[in-house]
Amino acid sequence: MRFLVAPCHAGSATTPSAGSDLSDKLLFLRSFAAHPRRVGAVLPTSRRAVESMLAMAELGQAELVAELGAGTGSHTRAILSQLGARARLVAFEIDPAMAATVRERLPDPRLEVVTASAEELEHHLDGQRPQVVVSALPFTSLPAGAGTAILDRTARTLAPGGVLLVLQYSPLITSELTRRFGWVRRKMCLRNVPPAFLFACRDPRPADDGQDAPGLASGPSS
Ligand SMILES: C[S@@+](CC[C@H](N)C(=O)[O-])C[C@H]1O[C@@H](n2cnc3c(N)ncnc32)[C@H](O)[C@@H]1O
Repeated sequence: MRFLVAPCHAGSATTPSAGSDLSDKLLFLRSFAAHPRRVGAVLPTSRRAVESMLAMAELGQAELVAELGAGTGSHTRAILSQLGARARLVAFEIDPAMAATVRERLPDPRLEVVTASAEELEHHLDGQRPQVVVSALPFTSLPAGAGTAILDRTARTLAPGGVLLVLQYSPLITSELTRRFGWVRRKMCLRNVPPAFLFACRDPRPADDGQDAPGLASGPSS
């Protein structure tokens, strides 16, 4: 398996995502204080990290995109800006206040915000398979079983040739990804608080091919 570490674009480590303002940050902080393991970060993802992550997919070609863990909409807004006019984005956010904020901020007919766990992914896609799934879920701190269930469901739901993008704050998820996908690339973005590991995963393995994945070597970061 190939391994890539590449810098994200230059920029301020604290640069907020487009559209992210003080009220977004306060909402994020409140949600983190109430559910630290579920939210997994104290601030929305930086614009640089979002751009660097989304650059690993062909969003302009996608007909259906799923977002897992929309938060206050850092990725949602950027995804919509790259989607075609007839494409759809189904964004899952388990926190009702955050989901309502995204709905209110981004009144776009291509967007459906689902206030539900990403574990229900398959039930909200009308039988369609997404070409791109974008996740900023804190997999390593979710309740036992939830993260692996979401990864399993995502791997079997992706359209042929599709890609899963994952943002994490540690490389711990790597073996779970390489166990499920035959092609995994990783890069780091230091221009985020905290620094982010960005993964692109393609070629889901058959469900019964759950081979143990080799670990990834570490490398230089930006
Ligand atoms: C690290 S935040 C990322 C938010 C946003 N995408 C960003 O990058 O700023 C993770 C988000 O996932 C949501 N979340 C956690 N578990 C979830 C689940 N099972 N299904 C859907 N959303 C979930 C949290 O409420 C939180 O908003």
